[in-house]
Amino acid sequence: MAQPAIELIGIEKRYGARAALAGVSLDVPTGQFVALVGASGSGKTTLLKTINGLIAPGGGQVRVVGEDAAAVPPHQLRRSIGYVFQEVGLFPHLSVGENIAITPKLLGWDRARTAARVDELLDLVVLPREVAARAPAQLSGGQRQRVGVARALAAEPKIMLMDEPFGALDPLTRDALGTDYRALHDKLSLTTLMVTHDMAEAVLLADRIVVLKDGVIVADGAPGRLLATTQDPDVRALLEAPRRQAERLRERLNGVAS
Ligand SMILES: Nc1ncnc2c1ncn2[C@@H]1O[C@H](COP(=O)(O)OP(=O)(O)O)[C@@H](O)[C@H]1O
Ligand SMILES: [Mg+2]
Repeated sequence: MAQPAIELIGIEKRYGARAALAGVSLDVPTGQFVALVGASGSGKTTLLKTINGLIAPGGGQVRVVGEDAAAVPPHQLRRSIGYVFQEVGLFPHLSVGENIAITPKLLGWDRARTAARVDELLDLVVLPREVAARAPAQLSGGQRQRVGVARALAAEPKIMLMDEPFGALDPLTRDALGTDYRALHDKLSLTTLMVTHDMAEAVLLADRIVVLKDGVIVADGAPGRLLATTQDPDVRALLEAPRRQAERLRERLNGVAS
């Protein structure tokens, strides 16, 4: 059987008396797109950061493509895993192209190879190549988030961790980015773990939804199956939210039309 891209085995992380993660075990097969959802403070960001080594778990083991993450040099681990933050965190004094080229530069690529890679990455995230010369402040929020994705992909990681990547964007931009990113995930055969607050986004984009509550996984399954299998009332409420919203929208829009 193929090695899962990510294996979490009994991950624990405490802050003082409080457990941010209280024994999380999760296998993510290569190529899967997983949405990680849960209330604020449920441990989503902590979980992502234990995977790429930004946070050392207090207990348990992280395995990335079969290797114990604690035994992999941190820079190597981070290079093999792309990370996209909600606040993209582009360097304002560097051009868009220079921001995307940060990792290639660290890796010592020459100018021609780096420039070619920047062009290729801009094509991938559907941005015109001209934006490479601009400052981040000259782009829209959606364009900046695309740059964040391009930068995360620069060293050709096969795993992407995304922490509410589209959370700060307006709904239309968010929708377009989500759809484009899903296409990219498929095209590059990535494995993606994406934190989102938006259950509709999770249902529409992900192969699998994992729900965290107080540092524990309380539901885990394909979008279409999750509602039928979960007993947890909070999880049911969360999963039913997009459907309730769609029904209310239809009622109101019909009401306006008639
Ligand atoms: N550096 C930290 N120090 C103390 N507590 C923290 C720290 N980081 C996170 N926490 C706590 O751990 C819990 C999980 O946080 P987090 O993973 O950020 O949740 P989420 O991303 O789901 O909102 C929260 O109760 C949060 O307050
Ligand atoms: Mg968070």
